[in-house]
Amino acid sequence: MNDAISIATTKSPDVPEKIDFTRRFMPEELTNFFFTPAYATLTEFQRLRYNQLNALYFNEQTMFFEKTLARNVLGHFLAQPLPGELKAGLQQFLSEEEQHTAMFQHLNQKCAPEIYGKQDFYFIQVPPIAAKMLDWLSKRPHLFPFLLWLMHLQEERALFFGRAFLNSAESLEPHFVAVQRKHLADETGHVRWDEELLDWVWPKTGPLFRRFNVQMLAWMVNEYFSTPKRTALRVVADLVREFPALQPQYPEFCRQLRELGNDPAYRRSLYCPENVPMTFKRFDAWPEFHSIVRAMPGYVPQNAQTT
Ligand SMILES: [Fe+2]
Ligand SMILES: [Fe+2]
Repeated sequence: MNDAISIATTKSPDVPEKIDFTRRFMPEELTNFFFTPAYATLTEFQRLRYNQLNALYFNEQTMFFEKTLARNVLGHFLAQPLPGELKAGLQQFLSEEEQHTAMFQHLNQKCAPEIYGKQDFYFIQVPPIAAKMLDWLSKRPHLFPFLLWLMHLQEERALFFGRAFLNSAESLEPHFVAVQRKHLADETGHVRWDEELLDWVWPKTGPLFRRFNVQMLAWMVNEYFSTPKRTALRVVADLVREFPALQPQYPEFCRQLRELGNDPAYRRSLYCPENVPMTFKRFDAWPEFHSIVRAMPGYVPQNAQTT
């Protein structure tokens, strides 16, 4: 079990054997409850536990992305006649994602063996029909290249998240910092390969199909990667289970989390030039992306043309 974490911690002899539950697991500003007025009403200990639970969910998100999306998408392209260098790069990409999944999986198991001993996903619960649909789509990324854009977007954002962990390294739990350090080191290459794949696939996609794919990307970002809806509420539900005195406030917590979806500043901050500059630069080159501002209000098309 420690092998996967040691991938990330061998170069950091300062990382102790045990998880330090007195520290936050992730920067507060990367958690969504932090942006609600209710967060300020929690005690320091309740905030710490929320942060720790949310970090387990954060690891699940990364694993979900790597297991359900990256594996299928990369597997598809690896079976194609790609230029030699790109093929070797994608093989490395795929093997690094497998290492990452193992690393996050084992970190979650180390933190909460009673939950993650039996399953990788606890907060993320995808209905079987949606899981089947995502599996079907992600095995056909040549028809649905919006998935490549989604990968580019999320992996570039992972760089931003990784840097935020390192900037707060002094105050955060050392295992979480170590896995993010390792992740950050590899994800830089992944973003580059995402770009190479996009350069190969997107120009070959017809204009109508490109527009359709942009709409699919907008829908997915809106539905699953913007407003705290399902999973974020489960994290708070778990917090309330640990602190039953919070039970009467639970409906209000949920209301405030959902309300973030209507907060323009919050929505803008999710995807903005500070966290995904390279993806936005690529959007600029293709006029069909100008409509995506509705899903990503932080995107301001440069050199906008009328679509
Ligand atoms: Fe990764
Ligand atoms: Fe990656």
